Amino acid sequence: MFRFIPLHFLLSLHVFGAGLPDPLVMADGTPVTTAALWREKRRPELLEFFTREMYGRSPGKPEKFFSEVFDRDEKALGGKATRIQIAIYPAGKPAPRMDLLVYVPNGARQPVPAILGLNFSGNHAIHPDPGIRLTESWVDEKSSKDHRATDANRGSNASQWPVETILSRGYALATMYREDVCPDHPPYFEGGVQPLFPELQKGDDNFGNIGAWAWALSRSLDVLEKEPLLDSKRVAVFGFSRLGKAALWAGATDDRFAMVISNESGAGGAKLFHRGLGEDIARLNTNFPHWFAKSFRQYMGKDTELPFDQHQVISLIAPRPVYVASAEDDKHSDPEGEFASLQAADPVFELLGSSGLPAGKWPAVNTSTQGGNGYHVRTGRHDVTDFDWRQYLDFADKRLKKGD
Ligand code: GCU
Repeated sequence: MFRFIPLHFLLSLHVFGAGLPDPLVMADGTPVTTAALWREKRRPELLEFFTREMYGRSPGKPEKFFSEVFDRDEKALGGKATRIQIAIYPAGKPAPRMDLLVYVPNGARQPVPAILGLNFSGNHAIHPDPGIRLTESWVDEKSSKDHRATDANRGSNASQWPVETILSRGYALATMYREDVCPDHPPYFEGGVQPLFPELQKGDDNFGNIGAWAWALSRSLDVLEKEPLLDSKRVAVFGFSRLGKAALWAGATDDRFAMVISNESGAGGAKLFHRGLGEDIARLNTNFPHWFAKSFRQYMGKDTELPFDQHQVISLIAPRPVYVASAEDDKHSDPEGEFASLQAADPVFELLGSSGLPAGKWPAVNTSTQGGNGYHVRTGRHDVTDFDWRQYLDFADKRLKKGD
C-alpha cells in the first residue's frame, strides 16, 4: 500500500547514512513523521537519554529557594543603564549564594529582551563598574590574592562582554559567576549547590557541573521573570566554551529560553563526536571528571560509534532559534563539526516549522549565515570577540526582537 514518506525523512536517510544517529527515528526504529510524535514521544525519549547517559539529573526549583535584590541603581554606567543585583539563595540564607548581575538599558518604552549567560571570572570581571559586588567565591586570576577577588580584578574579562554595545542595541544583559554555582576546581562537589542534593550524587546519572550550571541558568530565569523591565519570554541563553555546553543543555531542558547562543562550546556542546576530531570523550571525562554524569564515561574511546550525538541535543531546542559560532584556530572544538551538528539537527527544526540553517555547506570564514538558525566561523582563537557579538545581536534582532 502507498504510504506518504515526508521529504525530511528521505533527506535524513541521506544525511544520517554516514553513521550519525537520526533524531527523527525512535529508539525502537519508528520514524517520527509528525510534530506531535516528536513532542509527545521522541523529544521526551531523547531528553531522558541525554539526562541518564551524559548530563545527569537536575533538581527542580528547591522549596526554600529565596532571592533578594540587594542593589538597584538607575543611573549606572553614566546613566545608560539600570543595574540590578540579586542574591539567589537556592536553599535559603545564608549559603550557597549566587549573585545575578543585570543591566537593563534605560529609556526603553516596553520590557526589553535579554541575554543571560554565565561568566568565567566573576561578575566584577565583565565590566570595571565599581558598583558590581565582588564575589566571595574562589577566583582563578593572577592578580587575585589567595584566590579571592579584589578591586584589581574588576573588568579583567571585559573584552568578552561588550556591555555598552549590548545595551545600545536594546538588550538587557544578565550574568552569574560559574564558581558561585559550583566549584570548577578541586575538590569538586564540595561547596556550591551540589551538596544540597545528596540524592542526586548517588547514581551514575549524578548532578555534574554542566547540569548544575544549566540549572542555575533556569533559576536565574525564575528570578528574571519577576523583573518588569525585562521581557522574560524573550531571553536568549548564551555561553562560551564549557559555559556554552551548559547554555545548550539549559536550552534543551528549559523551553522558557527563547533562543540559545553557543560560542565555541566544542566537545559535550555543539561539536559532533562521530567525526573523531578535536577533544574526545576520554579527554573530557579525564580532565573534567566533575562536568558530566559518571555514566558518560562508558563511552570513552567510542566517539565514532556512539548511539547518539550532539545534533540531537541541539534538536531538543527546536523550533526555538539556535546560533552556533566557531573559531578557525579552535581545533579542539572541531569548528566544522560544530557546523555539521547544527546542520544535522535541521530535520527536526523543519518538522516543527523552522527553516533551520540556510547554508548547505560549511560557510567561508567571517561570514554569518542566518535563517531559522545561525552559524559563523571567524578567524582567530578560542575567545568571544566583538565580531561574535555583532552576529548574535543581528540574529537576535531578527529572531528574538520580532514584534517590537
Ligand atoms: C578546556 C576543555 C573544553 C572547554 C574549555 C573551556 O579546553 O577541554 O572542553 O570548552 O576548557 O571551557 O574553556
